[in-house]
Amino acid sequence: MPHTRRAFLKKAAATSVLAGGLAPALAGRAEILSMPVHPRLSPNDTVRIATIGMGIIGFIDTDTALRVPGVELVAAADLYEGRRIHVKEKYGDHVDTYVDYREILARTDIDAVLICTPDHWHVPMAKDALRAGKAVYCEKPMVHRVEEGHDLIKVQQETGKVFQVGSQYASSILYARAHELYREGAIGTLNMIEAITNRNSALGAWQYSIPTDASEQTVDWDRFLGSAPKRPFDATRFFRWRNYWDYGTATAGDLYVHLFTGIHRTLDAIGPTDVVAQGGLRFWKDGRDVPDVLLSLFTYPETEQHPGFNMSLQTNFVDGQGGGFHFKFIGDEGVMTVGGSSVTVERNGRWEPSIDEIITGYNSAFTFSLAEQKRLADHLRKNYVAPIAPAMTGRMEYQAPDGYDDRFDHFTYFFDSIRNGRPVYEDATFGFRAAAPTLLANMSYVDKRPYTWDPSAMKIAG
Ligand SMILES: NC(=O)c1ccc[n+]([C@@H]2O[C@H](COP(=O)([O-])OP(=O)(O)OC[C@H]3O[C@@H](n4cnc5c(N)ncnc54)[C@H](O)[C@@H]3O)[C@@H](O)[C@H]2O)c1
Repeated sequence: MPHTRRAFLKKAAATSVLAGGLAPALAGRAEILSMPVHPRLSPNDTVRIATIGMGIIGFIDTDTALRVPGVELVAAADLYEGRRIHVKEKYGDHVDTYVDYREILARTDIDAVLICTPDHWHVPMAKDALRAGKAVYCEKPMVHRVEEGHDLIKVQQETGKVFQVGSQYASSILYARAHELYREGAIGTLNMIEAITNRNSALGAWQYSIPTDASEQTVDWDRFLGSAPKRPFDATRFFRWRNYWDYGTATAGDLYVHLFTGIHRTLDAIGPTDVVAQGGLRFWKDGRDVPDVLLSLFTYPETEQHPGFNMSLQTNFVDGQGGGFHFKFIGDEGVMTVGGSSVTVERNGRWEPSIDEIITGYNSAFTFSLAEQKRLADHLRKNYVAPIAPAMTGRMEYQAPDGYDDRFDHFTYFFDSIRNGRPVYEDATFGFRAAAPTLLANMSYVDKRPYTWDPSAMKIAG
């Protein structure tokens, strides 16, 4: 089994830097490329897209999608007038803008929609869009509530339409490289994953700008609420929706979900069985009801793909250390760190004490009688076996090519699936398996109790 294999790539000797160069094979992608295809659009057809939700990521995703050759933006929907105006300013007057996304779905000249709205709108919009025959790129986290997952998976399967969750680590060459290294035994046997995403700024804590013209005249507040509890117009809730459970999924749904995507991609994992989280609202008491500090623990059971391991994920939005991000896969022979543009493996052989250290160092031996210390030292000398040197030592680093953009790859694969009919890598099942543990962490924090999860059936088990 891969996780018991201790061989490590000889070519990754001591200190090597695999800078730039060819992207390593995307293992999951390679399997997908060998699957039968059912073309819908011819490879040369233009894919006509519309974006629903033209906020921060709506513009970023649209720009990225348009960098893929053969993609044209024909429409966009948003509930704030200023953003509809900016769509035309940026992409041209010919792009139609709407308040009601269903007018986009009713158009037969649109092939695909990008869903870039707050979390509570992902599932209803994705279901509507799939049923209207559109291919769907749905931003993460795929679901706002655990109960929504199976429903969306079912609609994706029933409609057979292309559906990809917008968590770009799934297509990143860094996680493809991490996947390769892990399977080659780069860190020995995995036992722990540790990730930290810390910040210490108002923007980092989601206090995004509220336009001076925000009002019930410029914002369609009732439509924004959707299935959320009714309440009077509140510009802060509209423009800073992440801070409220009614519309967002807090730091876990926003940030951990990327980590789960990366972990599941790297390890071919499907999810944890045990989840517990604690946290609090320590500083950003600006009306928000989600925590600004969250610590969570997850247990992954052993599977054919990986050993059992434990994981800790942490977010602190008031981190006086200056903030920062790290993401480490820790094994008995080393640690693999995945950063924004690199994967680093550091191998530290297990420390073996010398005979002198055993007798006189921090050990029980120095407390024995002098005669016994001598007997033990003689015995050790007589039976001394030199420790086996670790197969690998030192450090290696894979650096992504300059300017590498995993979001661009993610969109390239999405449009490739639309054109060639191949299944996407990050479909609704993958998306649900990445999102559900984050929601369980939130539930554990709120309900003050651990949760158990059946990652195979994708159901709460206790
Ligand atoms: N993949 C990534 O790296 C990434 C990064 C940032 C955000 N996201 C995800 O993208 C989504 C949007 O985040 P954001 O930061 O862009 O938020 P945002 O507030 O900047 O934008 C959301 C937009 O959706 C619009 N909207 C809300 N309800 C709507 C409706 N019913 N119909 C039409 N438009 C509606 C709002 O008017 C707003 O302009 C979130 O789910 C977030 O988790 C993903």
